[in-house]
This record gives sequence, C-alpha cells and structure tokens, in this order.
Amino acid sequence: MARKRPPNGSPPPDVRPRATAKGGKRKKKAAAPAAGPLINVRHMNRRDISRVWDFLKLSFRDVNAETVEYQRPRSKHRFEEIFEEEGIEQLLFEVNGDIVAYAECSYEVTGSDNWINPRYFEKRDMRPLFIDELAVHPDFHGRGVGSFAMEQLQHLARVHGLNHLVLEVAENNERALNWYRKRSFKKLDAAIFMAAPVDTEPELLPPRELPGPREPEPRPSDDEDKS
Ligand SMILES: CC(C)(COP(=O)(O)OP(=O)(O)OC[C@H]1O[C@@H](n2cnc3c(N)ncnc32)[C@H](O)[C@@H]1OP(=O)(O)O)[C@@H](O)C(=O)NCCC(=O)NCCS
Repeated sequence: MARKRPPNGSPPPDVRPRATAKGGKRKKKAAAPAAGPLINVRHMNRRDISRVWDFLKLSFRDVNAETVEYQRPRSKHRFEEIFEEEGIEQLLFEVNGDIVAYAECSYEVTGSDNWINPRYFEKRDMRPLFIDELAVHPDFHGRGVGSFAMEQLQHLARVHGLNHLVLEVAENNERALNWYRKRSFKKLDAAIFMAAPVDTEPELLPPRELPGPREPEPRPSDDEDKS
C-alpha cells in the first residue's frame, strides 16, 4: 500500500540515519518508530448493530461495485437476526473507540440458507471455524489490522479445538484472495460464475409494409342467390 503523504503534499521526511563526516560527532542511534495506537477487540453488543452495519457498507463498497456474487452485507434485517443466533461470534476491533474491523464466525453450519455441505469436512477430518465476514476500514488497510483479526480468529479456532478456517471469497476480489493465499488458504471447490456472449436480436420485429387496401369482392347477384 502506498504510504500516505503528509497533509501539505511535501515529500515524506527522510528517516534514514545520516552518515557523519570523519571526526564528526558520534552517529546518533536511529530513533525507534513511534508507537502506533492500540487496537482492541471485543464482542459486539446490541447497541453496536447500526454502527457496525454502516461500517460494513462502507468497507465492502468497493468490493461490491466489482462483484457479481451476492453482495455484502446482505440486509440490515438479516444482520439483526444474526445477532440473535446461537453459535455466531461477532467481534469488533477498535482504535480510540472507532471501529476499524469486524469479524464474524460460526462454529457450525447453521441457518436454512447456508452454502456448505458439512459432510465434505467430516470425510476429511476437518473441523472448521467458518469465517462469515471479515472487513477492515479502508483507512486502515495495510496496517496489520486484518492480520490481527485473522490471528484472533485462529486463536478462537484453537481454543475451540477446530483445525481449519473456512471462508468464501469472490474470485475477482483479488486483494482479499491474494491476502488469504499468503496466509495459507487454499481453494476447496466453488461454483464459478461463467458468462458467454450471445448474438442479440431485438425482441420485437421491425416495421413491415402492408399491402394496399383490397378491392371489395363483387357481391353475389340476386339471380345466383335464387339458384
Ligand atoms: C482483505 C483485508 C481484510 C486485509 O486487511 P488489512 O488490514 O489491509 O490487512 P493487513 O494490513 O494485515 O495486511 C495487508 C498487508 O499490509 C502489510 N502490513 C501489515 N502491517 C503493516 C503495517 N503496520 N504497516 C504497513 N503495512 C503493513 C502486511 O505485510 C500485509 O501484506 P502481505 O499481504 O504481503 O502480508 C482488507 O483489505 C479488507 O477488509 N478488504 C475489504 C473487505 C474484504 O474484501 N473482505 C474479505 C471478503 S471475504
């Protein structure tokens, strides 16, 4: 990720230690980088729901704009329902009280609209923690927030005796895909959206010239009627 420029647009200050001329003063030790803010993780509360919903819409805006697959987050109603469901963890990561990341995971395949076949994992002796959502505030990308959230999820899996993390990611979400690959995630199997062009034709036929009005048929004569 590109480093942020200072607010006035001037180039970033050179932080490399400068060599001193021979006989000059002793080289000063390079100052340790200033400590950044603390990141804190906690469980989401009911009163956080609206704030987290807004956070998710913002965090997925760019991904959604480029994705054909289902959009995230789904609906506020569904999000409120999730809060009530058993077996789902919703974690908030905050810096100075502001939400910088959200992670949602579940211990079992739950819900009537789930996308997973549990026997796939049973056959392979996999006990997964399902990561249903992971999002970092765009202003905090590339600062280790996602890595911290992932570490927290791994920790949850470990303490619950689960030996895999499983998630779904849109194939064209390149940034996330590469990020997961670097963290040892491998593709299991998935439906891939495919598209083929079709030569199109207008639904309605073009205008057509009609023949001129017909000559009226000669009426049968009275004599013919009588015969
Ligand atoms: C994918 C996503 C979760 C990654 O989160 P992130 O906070 O940017 O991730 P990190 O900062 O931990 O890691 C990003 C990179 O920054 C680097 N980094 C880590 N700490 C850093 C720091 N203090 N300063 C600068 N760079 C740092 C890491 O080395 C990492 O590089 P790597 O991938 O080569 O290892 C985030 O981009 C995101 O929320 N995207 C939108 C939503 C989304 O797509 N979610 C996934 C859908 S399933």
